[in-house]
Amino acid sequence: MSSENGDAMASEGWIAGPGTPLLGTVRVPGDKSISHRAVMLGALAEGVTHVRGFLEGEDTRATARVFERLGVRIDTPSASERIVHGVGLHGLRGSGSVLDCGNAGTGMRLLAGVLAGQRFDSVLAGDASLSQRPMRRVIEPLALMGARIDANPGGLPPLRIRGGNPLKGLDYALPVASAQVKSALLLAGLYAHGDTVIREPHPTRDYTERMLAAFGWPVTFAPGHARLSGGHALRATDVEVPADFSSAAFFLVAASVVPGSDLRIEAVGMNPRRTGLLQVLRAMGADIEATDRREQGGELVADLRVRHAALHGVEVPDAVVADMIDEFPVLFVAAACASGRTVIRGAGELRVKESDRLATMAAGLRALGIGVDETADGAVIHGGPMRAGVGVIDSHGDHRIAMSLAIAAQVAEGEVQIGDVANVATSFPGFVARATAAGMGLRARPPH
Ligand code: S3P
Repeated sequence: MSSENGDAMASEGWIAGPGTPLLGTVRVPGDKSISHRAVMLGALAEGVTHVRGFLEGEDTRATARVFERLGVRIDTPSASERIVHGVGLHGLRGSGSVLDCGNAGTGMRLLAGVLAGQRFDSVLAGDASLSQRPMRRVIEPLALMGARIDANPGGLPPLRIRGGNPLKGLDYALPVASAQVKSALLLAGLYAHGDTVIREPHPTRDYTERMLAAFGWPVTFAPGHARLSGGHALRATDVEVPADFSSAAFFLVAASVVPGSDLRIEAVGMNPRRTGLLQVLRAMGADIEATDRREQGGELVADLRVRHAALHGVEVPDAVVADMIDEFPVLFVAAACASGRTVIRGAGELRVKESDRLATMAAGLRALGIGVDETADGAVIHGGPMRAGVGVIDSHGDHRIAMSLAIAAQVAEGEVQIGDVANVATSFPGFVARATAAGMGLRARPPH
């Protein structure tokens, strides 16, 4: 386990809060979703792809390692840079051993799409959390395309993917809004005969579509819809990865709730399919200004200035849920600090993320004295004072739960102990250093 910047001290956890005002400027690491895809498409392209701003997280490194095992040379000239020597669509080689996706649902689901189109067999496995995450959502539609994938009972990993099956295109209406499932099918569609058409119940992040286009693959897409056909080639291109909005989100909420804060977050990715939290925080009364909007590597980025403001509870509109699917843990914290109640509905997907995020956030906030009524697909959060933690609050090995609880602790009456934080390194290496530099109270809990 990494202990970079004190993030981990692995399972020993953190002592968090209370904090001082968040001031100055912070820069957060590269976007996780885009980093995964840059390595994948770079590997399958003809030519050399230079990726800058790559997320040095455990999840994205696991994906890079998988492609190395499949015969792709990937150089690391400096931290957050990768040079991917593409082998072309049909140039991967079977590895003969289990491919480890670590904690990453994105890695496993997208790889299932890629590997379904190969001539060789593969096995995809993951850590304890990933081994409990539902894979039928990719296995079933990939089977309709002609893939053969076996899983453990309940459709759980590991995935055993048979090679040598010709794939055919598919016209598929996704039962759940999932960019991972959409992307798995589009990647399998590269190898398929005919058209692959995906229809979504709610639009989800479109990075796969945008990046395929940047790599020269003909693809048509609009919110909620994507279409491509097999039989083309990917041409290497350079990728500049913007800072991850989901990582910036912790600082947006922290600076909103800690009195006296005035923080700037630099060059944050502002893809509209990711920034639903901004809309919701502003509706709650947050003072967040986006300045210097510009394009960076085909993605919209902006600097965000956030100042403390009094928040009030809101009903989160259904239509925005998919655009902030990873930000609900930290929204729970904003809601806990707001006056009145915040109502979340239509977010049942949170139960099958790295942890059951409705249950883990409800339990974490209750331990801090906040009233939370959990529902099947959401929660009602009653804002109120946050007391100091009693005992260790468990983040269930979920990176976003650990960081969200650390933000809650900033406004608690005393210190809060948070357990099982090592997985923060999956998405946000250097979180502790950046958080403390900005003013948060956060340190590794010494071993007992
Ligand atoms: C991701 C899509 C989302 C998100 C995950 C990353 C992606 O998952 O929660 O962190 O990169 O496509 P779903 O598409 O399954 O909701």
